[in-house]
Amino acid sequence: MNNITLKNGLSVSPVCLGAMMFGSTTSKEDSYAILDAFLDLGGNFIDTSNNYAHWIGTGDESETLLGQWMHDRGCRDKVIIGTKVGFDRKGIGAGLKKEQIEYWCDESLRKLQTDYIDLYYAHTDDADTPMEETIEAFESLVKKGKVRHLGGSNYDTWRFTEFNFTARDKGCTPYTVMQQRFSYLDCRLDLKPNYIFNENVGRERLRYLEDKDIPLVAYSCLLRGAYEDASRIPSNYIGGARYDTLVNMAKEKGVSGSALAVAWMCNAHRMKGFPRVIPLFSSSKLNHFIDNCSGADIVLTDEEMTILTNA
Ligand SMILES: NC(=O)c1ccc[n+]([C@@H]2O[C@H](COP(=O)([O-])OP(=O)(O)OC[C@H]3O[C@@H](n4cnc5c(N)ncnc54)[C@H](OP(=O)(O)O)[C@@H]3O)[C@@H](O)[C@H]2O)c1
Repeated sequence: MNNITLKNGLSVSPVCLGAMMFGSTTSKEDSYAILDAFLDLGGNFIDTSNNYAHWIGTGDESETLLGQWMHDRGCRDKVIIGTKVGFDRKGIGAGLKKEQIEYWCDESLRKLQTDYIDLYYAHTDDADTPMEETIEAFESLVKKGKVRHLGGSNYDTWRFTEFNFTARDKGCTPYTVMQQRFSYLDCRLDLKPNYIFNENVGRERLRYLEDKDIPLVAYSCLLRGAYEDASRIPSNYIGGARYDTLVNMAKEKGVSGSALAVAWMCNAHRMKGFPRVIPLFSSSKLNHFIDNCSGADIVLTDEEMTILTNA
């Protein structure tokens, strides 16, 4: 797969590897095999957080495993690490206050065995902390060289915009990447999301990101294997004709549904109304992961993109 250069200058693979369960439900051996394969395939963009996966263990597992892997492979300079701050660990510590950002950044650097984070995300908004405080705390990390770029995840679009306007007014670093739940299938926007931060991306948000040339890192984009098995389509997603269109085209092209969903997302920016989308997916199985990555190299004609997009 070939790297893409984002407006902020980062050169990243067109797909991002989600390491959320690495070191907890995905063993060290399996995690290393998937990480090694990702590098072999030309991937470099890896996603983790300061709290993965606290609901299984302590929340240190994913970053610790990645730090050990980068050390063992001597590959820190070959990868782009995105990590996050702002969600709780076992119900404690959520927020984007100055001391929280400073503390958790140092913790992430320690666990990742590195002295810089390529992309540091606010994992979710913190309406109880003045935005200026969060902006200044992030800016201080950028000035110290601990953090290179900033992103926002699970934000309302208007709050993300407000962050960026305020940051620019203050001469500080804006969010240049947005990470949200997004997939090929549409979410039922008439239903409440399971969690407030789980809201899927709607058309207006897509147009905003397209206009600002801000990439959308699309998490949970393979919907737990739904593109291989319709019975796994989450109840708050719409399957129907759109699902059948994807699955039938995948059969015709001799590729898996997951790979074609990845391909559609990688090519979505060719269609009006879509920003650059970077599918962010994970797997505990090497064969699944390699197949999903193959989607980045599937060539889709304009006609195929139109059929898939308009289905
Ligand atoms: N910003 C946020 O708030 C946020 C929230 C959630 C996740 N994330 C990030 O997004 C990453 C991915 O999220 P996710 O795990 O929720 O979503 P995902 O990657 O879309 O789904 C992973 C699940 O899909 C299954 N799967 C993947 N490929 C498959 C295939 N080819 N065939 C059958 N099953 C397949 C996996 O099963 P197998 O293991 O059996 O392959 C696993 O159960 C995380 O690692 C994390 O980095 C961010």
